[in-house]
Amino acid sequence: MDLKKKILPMLRWWLIYIGAALPFLWLVVAAVTQQLGADPAKEIVLELGTWAINFLWITLAITPVRKLFAINWLSKYRRMMGLYSFFYAALHLLAFATFMVGWDWKILIVELTERPYAIVGFIALLLLLPLAVTSTKAMQRKLKRHWLTLHKLIYLIAPLTLLHIVWQIRSDFSEALTYGLLLSYLLGYRYYKKRSRAQRIKPVVNHPKKMQSQHSSL
Ligand code: HEM
Repeated sequence: MDLKKKILPMLRWWLIYIGAALPFLWLVVAAVTQQLGADPAKEIVLELGTWAINFLWITLAITPVRKLFAINWLSKYRRMMGLYSFFYAALHLLAFATFMVGWDWKILIVELTERPYAIVGFIALLLLLPLAVTSTKAMQRKLKRHWLTLHKLIYLIAPLTLLHIVWQIRSDFSEALTYGLLLSYLLGYRYYKKRSRAQRIKPVVNHPKKMQSQHSSL
């Protein structure tokens, strides 16, 4: 087997796959061995939420990091990172419903419909669901260009998630500020790239001949 073409990418895939599952495995071990402090239920909810947002930001960071450092293979892992974000976010809700609400449906519905931070979190999770379901190659082929449009939902999900944590701030702003600054950079980068692409094409509108030549270079 070709070492560079097959074995290395396979090893890399497994390393990233297992690495992304480690926070979950660590949480299970810490819960079983009672290392989660005085309020383990809350700790589980917070840890799962933290990893859901971390993987969401990592998903958004893949394109800029790939372009800035010319690491082309990174784009292969964007789907995996997005799925991990959904995985941790779904467990986050499950842990919240189990440990904080005790599956009392009345309380759960009130929480999800009346508390602003839970409402935006719930919307973010609901929007993540179609992205997770359509993440397969087969769905990508089936939906064609609609797939790209659908996956632009991530630009709505990320600010909603940020709002979810901003709405919970009691005293310490540092975590929300860090995520906010990172998100501003990640979305700002895309906006800047889109604008500069549009500007490169703009003058061409008045010059049909130039337009022809620029289109062929895209
Ligand atoms: C139905 C949806 C959701 C519910 C009910 C929910 C509920 C909660 C609760 C109860 C907390 C802890 C509040 C506290 O006691 O301090 C929390 C924190 C958090 N949640 Fe959610 N959440 C939801 C969706 C999400 C989603 C989709 C994400 C990310 C993609 C997320 C990320 C976070 C983060 C990062 C924290 C803060 C962790 C920290 O302070 O260390 N949540 N959420």
